[in-house]
Amino acid sequence: MSVLTTDSVHLRAPGNWINDPNGFIYYKGEYHLFYQYFPYAPRWGTMHWGHAVSPDLVHWEHLGVALFPTKDYDRSGVFSGSAMEIDGRLHLYYSAVKYDQPKPEDIHLADGDRFETSQAMVISPDGRQFDNWGGKEQIIPVLTDPAVGDKKDTRDPKVWREKDGYRMILGSTRDGSGRVIFFRSEDGEKWTYANQYASPQLGRILECPDLMKTEDGYIFVGSPMGVTADGLSYADQAMFARADFDPDTCALSLREPLAYLDWGLDLYAPQSTLDREGRRVLVGWMRMPKPVENWADGRGPWNGMMSLPRLVQVRDGKVCFPVHPDVDACFDKPAHGLAPLAEYKPVRLRATLREGDSLNLGGYRIRRTDGRIEADRSAVFDSLQGCRLTACTPVLEGDSCRLDIFADRNLVEIFVNQGEYVLSHVVYGLGTELEGPVEEARTI
Ligand code: FRU
Repeated sequence: MSVLTTDSVHLRAPGNWINDPNGFIYYKGEYHLFYQYFPYAPRWGTMHWGHAVSPDLVHWEHLGVALFPTKDYDRSGVFSGSAMEIDGRLHLYYSAVKYDQPKPEDIHLADGDRFETSQAMVISPDGRQFDNWGGKEQIIPVLTDPAVGDKKDTRDPKVWREKDGYRMILGSTRDGSGRVIFFRSEDGEKWTYANQYASPQLGRILECPDLMKTEDGYIFVGSPMGVTADGLSYADQAMFARADFDPDTCALSLREPLAYLDWGLDLYAPQSTLDREGRRVLVGWMRMPKPVENWADGRGPWNGMMSLPRLVQVRDGKVCFPVHPDVDACFDKPAHGLAPLAEYKPVRLRATLREGDSLNLGGYRIRRTDGRIEADRSAVFDSLQGCRLTACTPVLEGDSCRLDIFADRNLVEIFVNQGEYVLSHVVYGLGTELEGPVEEARTI
């Protein structure tokens, strides 16, 4: 991989494989986005943290590998986690994985899926230097008491600041259903167990939890495994609910049933942070069933990309995910339909659909029917088996149906009524023809 690789609008694997966003933070005047990275092949394996920076959430510069296994406790992988600025230094929290035994013919996977997990931390003085040998510290050892946590499946520390210090939420499992576990710390370095919350709503295992403070309570986001069990991929989904949380006791309760965060059902393991202006912004991993082989910039086969950054907003008591305004604003050049896609440039389309109206975006179909937005990617998905080809939103609340559609060669993201619902779909081979009542097309 060249360290000069850059991306605009969507952060893509710099080659090979990426999954979850990690350590998303606005720090010392730039956005940092780390991600789960397997540098050797376009498939999942021993996890590293790849690193990219951006001045504006639009232009991304890949900086290569930030974290990689060096210790006995993280020898099999540096799993997901988060970032926090404390006294000017960047604290990275991650899950450290140690396989009981690697597979004899593939050391990047655990034999029999047996491993143990602890939580670890690296402090960087500047967000550019990461001392993988001298700077790591195991902050929460493997949890051996099943009442406290699961020694294998407890992971993905998300840390945030409260008035009197820091809290950490971890994803985990107990007796076959998902749970989250809370730790607390005064200084962000020494952590003690505080509380936990388990529910069948949290799937089989809960991954990548995030708890966001709003003006009225909290929003819980997490990725429960095994919630969409209709035999099609994917069964694991990113979900959210408004929640109450007491920072003193770390008692969590959900105010409402969990809902899908993105109705395309490709987005997973999202993570949020505060943007330059203190607004809550979130990105998620767009899962891809096969790599892209033929990208023009020579990065080689790549699998995995990030969604557009979205704000997390509560409007009229409803959680909405509109596209981040800085991303929206960079689409400032008129475009001739989807023509820019031929030059690997993204396009933003605006359309207002009435009941029965439909759009054809290079073979990708969008339709307003029965009060919902339906999308069908069957013509632009290379006949991939076992994957969901269609998706739809719930019934929209009012009459209005304004769509902001962002299309890239391999991703279509539909923001309905400024984030009332979002539907994002990975695609392969999107064409450039455009049919339907589109009001405006723009590119960057
Ligand atoms: C979610 C996840 C996390 C884990 C990471 C490993 O996609 O399974 O729970 O930390 O990916 O790559």
